[in-house]
Amino acid sequence: MTLRRTSAALRMRRNVLAAAVFAAGVLIASALAHGIADAQTYPVRPITVVVPFAAGGPTDVLARVLGERIRADLGQPVLIENVTGAGGSIGVGRVATAAPDGYTISAGHFGTHVANGAIYPLKYDLVRDLDPVARLPSNPMLVVTRKDFPAASLMELVAWLRANPGKATAGTAGAGSGSHIAGAFLANLVGAPLAFVPYRGTAPAMQDLVAGQIDLIVDQAANSLPQLRQGSIKALAVAAAMRLATAPEIPTSAEAGLPGLQMELWNGMWVPHGTPRPIVDKLNAAVVKALADPAVRERLATLGLAGPPADQRSPEALRAFQRSEIEKWWPIIKAAHITAE
Ligand code: MLT
Repeated sequence: MTLRRTSAALRMRRNVLAAAVFAAGVLIASALAHGIADAQTYPVRPITVVVPFAAGGPTDVLARVLGERIRADLGQPVLIENVTGAGGSIGVGRVATAAPDGYTISAGHFGTHVANGAIYPLKYDLVRDLDPVARLPSNPMLVVTRKDFPAASLMELVAWLRANPGKATAGTAGAGSGSHIAGAFLANLVGAPLAFVPYRGTAPAMQDLVAGQIDLIVDQAANSLPQLRQGSIKALAVAAAMRLATAPEIPTSAEAGLPGLQMELWNGMWVPHGTPRPIVDKLNAAVVKALADPAVRERLATLGLAGPPADQRSPEALRAFQRSEIEKWWPIIKAAHITAE
């Protein structure tokens, strides 16, 4: 009796196991098929690009210009969501924990996808939790001051900073932002501290500079040029080896007497880790096509945005570049004691 019951029980268990394995197989196959079908039909609904700084700033403007062109290509609206705070790390974290389905994208740059990792105890890993889509254009930094600041040149600014250590207020987009790292870079070179004033982006910082509420910003050209052209602020130097074609009146830092001040902010686009590769490829192709569009290039060129070189436009190129920037800059940032405080 016992024997018969045991073998019946064994047969039952084997059948249950076989059914479970079959069900799992069906689930995996359908998930795979679903994923492949998703990638083939992607996008079927609006795509959200999370910009980790306030609307109207350089990161936001670049995302909107590209988003408008990408929308035409992908056939779905590209919505910009500004998620600000903590030098952009809050917005990036929103994407790092989003579903890897191609509908949530992270727009950012050296500050948000390199420097922040050395400054904040991030709850996500900038390399492990985000997959690269494409490198975007870079923007040189400008040293700009309020219109009535008592310095008519970069070296007059340097003299003023040294004579008044810690007195000049410098707007930033928060600790770890490009404007903050660039400001710290200037202070380091000058050998005199700046009083950093953090904002949710350099658009609100620029509003205060125009209003004369703060003294200076080491700012992305894209953010400063419109105000410069209106005569609302002064530009003392471009932190680059060459003058800006779109603003040839601004001397380079070397011409202005501070050759060591050279910094440009490169931009990029990422998705949550695990986003299907066919979806990443679709997004990459749309970005590369947008960057080749003459109207887009013209629009970006007036803001001093250029590049990236043709061989730097693949997801792998961005991954390699970001890793190399992390290796290079984390020790520098930590040695310079650039912190979130
Ligand atoms: C920064 O890093 O300074 C930001 O890019 C400014 C911004 O985009 O608002």
